[in-house]
Amino acid sequence: MRTQVAIIGAGPAGLLLGQLLQRAGIETVILERRSADYVLGRIRAGVLEQGTVELIARAGCDARLRVEGLPHAGVNLCFGGRRHRIDLAALTAGKEVVVYGQTEVTRDLMEARAAAGARTVYEAAGVHLEGFDRARPVVHFLKGGIAQTLECDFIAGCDGFYGVSRQSVPEGALETFERVYPFGWLGLLADVPPANEELIYVNHEDGFALCSMRSPTRSRYYLQCAADEKVENWSDQRFWDELRRRLDPEAAAALVTGPALEKSIAPLRSFVAEPLRFGRLFLAGDVAHIVPPTGAKGLNLAASDVHYLSEALIEYYGEGSSAGIDAYSTRALARVWKAERFSWWMTSLLHHFPENGRFGHRIQLAELEYLVSSRAAAASLAENYVGLPF
Ligand code: APR
Ligand code: PHB
Repeated sequence: MRTQVAIIGAGPAGLLLGQLLQRAGIETVILERRSADYVLGRIRAGVLEQGTVELIARAGCDARLRVEGLPHAGVNLCFGGRRHRIDLAALTAGKEVVVYGQTEVTRDLMEARAAAGARTVYEAAGVHLEGFDRARPVVHFLKGGIAQTLECDFIAGCDGFYGVSRQSVPEGALETFERVYPFGWLGLLADVPPANEELIYVNHEDGFALCSMRSPTRSRYYLQCAADEKVENWSDQRFWDELRRRLDPEAAAALVTGPALEKSIAPLRSFVAEPLRFGRLFLAGDVAHIVPPTGAKGLNLAASDVHYLSEALIEYYGEGSSAGIDAYSTRALARVWKAERFSWWMTSLLHHFPENGRFGHRIQLAELEYLVSSRAAAASLAENYVGLPF
C-alpha cells in the first residue's frame, strides 16, 4: 500500500487532519487500533473554541454542529456559595464557545471521511513506524493477522498519549515536561436537563465541581475526588448529594437528578513532549500534550496542532515549500504552552489543595474575587477560554 500522508489514530486529531488534507487533494490513510464503534464509545468533553469550530467548518463537517451545537456567550464561577458570570462575548468582542460533544465531532468526521472514500483501516494491530528519519517512511501493521506495509511521504502521529508514535522517537531525541495533580475527577453523565444553561466551575472548600452538558436533555457533572478514589464507592445518590452541597443555592435548587448513564474517574496531568517533528514524523494532539480538563482545552489543542500541520503539508504539496513543516513544531508548541499555562492556572485556582493549607485557600478566594471584580482580569480569563488566535 502507498499514500502521501499516513495518519496513526482515528481520534479527533487524526480524523480532522485527514479531512483537511483530503479536501486539499492530499491522499491519506488512517490506521486505527480500535474499531469505529469503540472510538465512538468514548465519553469526552466538547467545549469548542471558535477557532476549532472554524476548522471543522473548513473540513466541511460543521452541518450538525451548526444545528445541535450550543453556543455559550458566558461561563460561571462559583465560590463562597455565590455564583458570578464571566461575560465571554462582551470581554472578547463577541467570541463564544460551542458545547458539542467530542463524540459527535468524531462521528461527523468519520462519516465525512467514509463519504469521501478515504481509507481508514480499523483494528490495525501492531503498528510499527520505520524510516521516518529518511525520505521514504514505512508503516508496518497487521490487519486480520496479515502483515501489511504502508509506504508514505510523511507520518502524522495522532495516536494519543498511549500511542506508538511518541514511543517510536529515538531515545534522547525527545524532552518531556509533566505535572501530575494530587486528585482526580469523578464524572457522571445523565439524561437530565442541566442545572444551568451555561457551565458552572465551583471552588468549594471540600473540592472542585463542574456543571456541564451535552444537550438540553443530557447533563455532565464532575466532582474533585482523591486520586486513588474508587468509582464503586460512589452511588448515584452519594454523587448527587455531594454535588448539591458544593453548588450555590440557586443551582442546587435547580439540579435535576436521575440514573447515571456513565460514571468514571479520570486522573489529571499536564504533559508536553518536545519537539513535535522527527524527520518525516510529526506529532499532533494528545500524543504530544495533555492538559487537565479544567480549561476544556484537550480537543481544542488537538485542533490547534492540526491547523498548523495541515497548513504546512498543504504548502509542501502545493508549493513545494518546506517552510511550514520546518516551522510546525515551534509554531504549534507556542500555542500549546499557552493553553497548558491556562489549564494549569484554572486547575490551581479551582481545586482544593490540602497541602497549600488555609493560606492557599484564601489566596484562591482572593484571586477569584479579583477575577469577578476586575474587567482586565476577567478579560484575560475570557480570551484564553474562547481560545487565543492561531
Ligand atoms: N495504533 C493505531 N492507533 C492507535 C494506537 C496505535 N498504536 N494507539 C492509539 N491509537 C488510537 C486510539 O485508539 C485513538 O482512537 O489513536 C487515537 C488517539 O485519539 P485520542 O486519544 O482521542 O487523541 P487525539 O486525537 O489527539 O484527541 C485528543 O481526545 O482523548 C481526548 O481529551 C482528549 O479531547 C482530547 C482529544
Ligand atoms: C465536559 O462537558 O465534559 C467538560 C466541560 C468543560 C470542562 C471539562 C469538561 O472544562
